[in-house]
Amino acid sequence: MLTGKAPQPEPVNASAEGEQIWLNVIGKMEETWGQLIGQQVELERKNAALEEAHAFMASVFESMSDVLVACDTALRIVRTNTAAEKLFAPEGQSIVGVRLEDLIAPSSGLKAEDVASSMTRRQGLEDREFQFSTTSGALPFAVNGTLLYDRRQRLSGIVLLGRPLGEVRRAYSELDQAHRNLKAAHVQLVQAEKMASLGRLVAGVAHELNNPISFVYGNAYTLKRFVPRLVAYLEHIHAQPGAALFAQERQALRVDMVVSELGGTLDGIVEGAERVRDIVADLRRFSSDRRSAGAVFDMAGVVRTGLEWVLASADRIVETRMDVEEPLEVEGHAGRMQQVVMNLVQNALDAMEDVPHPVLCVTAKRDGVRVRVQIADNGSGIPPDVAGHIFDPFFTTKPVGKGTGLGLAICYGTVSDHGGQFTVRNGAQGGAVVAFDLPAFAPDGGPAVLPEEG
Ligand SMILES: Nc1ncnc2c1ncn2[C@@H]1O[C@H](COP(=O)(O)OP(=O)(O)OP(=O)(O)O)[C@@H](O)[C@H]1O
Ligand SMILES: [Mg+2]
Repeated sequence: MLTGKAPQPEPVNASAEGEQIWLNVIGKMEETWGQLIGQQVELERKNAALEEAHAFMASVFESMSDVLVACDTALRIVRTNTAAEKLFAPEGQSIVGVRLEDLIAPSSGLKAEDVASSMTRRQGLEDREFQFSTTSGALPFAVNGTLLYDRRQRLSGIVLLGRPLGEVRRAYSELDQAHRNLKAAHVQLVQAEKMASLGRLVAGVAHELNNPISFVYGNAYTLKRFVPRLVAYLEHIHAQPGAALFAQERQALRVDMVVSELGGTLDGIVEGAERVRDIVADLRRFSSDRRSAGAVFDMAGVVRTGLEWVLASADRIVETRMDVEEPLEVEGHAGRMQQVVMNLVQNALDAMEDVPHPVLCVTAKRDGVRVRVQIADNGSGIPPDVAGHIFDPFFTTKPVGKGTGLGLAICYGTVSDHGGQFTVRNGAQGGAVVAFDLPAFAPDGGPAVLPEEG
């Protein structure tokens, strides 16, 4: 540090001329001294600014969550930030001086040679994915690299900036899941609204149809019971001696044929009326208000029985693979849930009608706090243009008289009432996979919303 006055040289000559020379020398020295002090002040100011810039850069480096690794041209690490040290260096050590290739995991698609070749080509790196060996294992990073040059514009290294992809991917997959949940909730909401308005309409129609069909059915049935008596009476008349008088009329009116077909015709009427009666019953069940209390029951038993009943009335052998856990306690209406299982199994059998070797896979298992039932077949599968409609009431692809299109609509209502949801997809090997889940019964769980018998 330069302070005070410039040192005063001793005069050696006392003459006036000599004195003047000395005065000049002293003046020059003082001038030089002043310049020196000025330069030092300027130097100190620049030094302070440099230190400030340095401290600023250091705090920027340290506050970065991305990892920063600067390498020389031999790809040896010369500088890092705290994020990089934390991630790569074991406790109390540093990665400065380590070779970049030691940081890259063997599983990485890109290697240190790729960084070297980008330097040779005088090109940086843009969003390239590397796997780095961190203290917690190999992790993926999106890496950007910028080339470093010295003052004479000679390449001096590369700065790599890496962003952990795990975080980005996790955030993306959470976002994607939330989006899918929202879409599913939207579909459920639309479906529920559709069901509610159709339910009201259907309830009205079913109510109106119920009375006329009851008396068609009742009267046809009564008439059927009268037929044997009428036939007996006619036979008795025909056996009388005067019957020849009626014989001509009997032939012309083909009374024998009418009598013989009476039974079959009435059977047809009764069968048709029965079918309409069943449809009306389905409609009423579909649209019924279900707010009565339920009970705890074993879904495993319901699945077994539902399956057995449908298979017993099937007209061909179906290979059945069962994987049913027991017990599977749920709360609600065993009868309505059995109808769901039976509808699903019947659908699967219908879909496998043309399959030479039909296989039905039924699973029922506990999955955390849910009970999941799945019925998979190797049938025709569900075409994409049909999939969006299968739960709609009256939607059917089956011929007239075979399906009403109410099966899945009823299943949907029942499962929703029990707090469950359906998923439908096509299997990887073909066929359809129809599944639903229900809340498992929790004895000390919160109050359950109990569905009611319709
Ligand atoms: N396992 C399945 N494989 C292929 N398609 C199916 C399957 N289950 C349902 N479907 C399709 O969904 C439609 C609607 O089924 P849903 O059970 O509601 O009515 P349906 O079986 O046609 O008639 P219903 O059940 O009233 O007798 C079916 O017509 C069929 O096209
Ligand atoms: Mg059906």
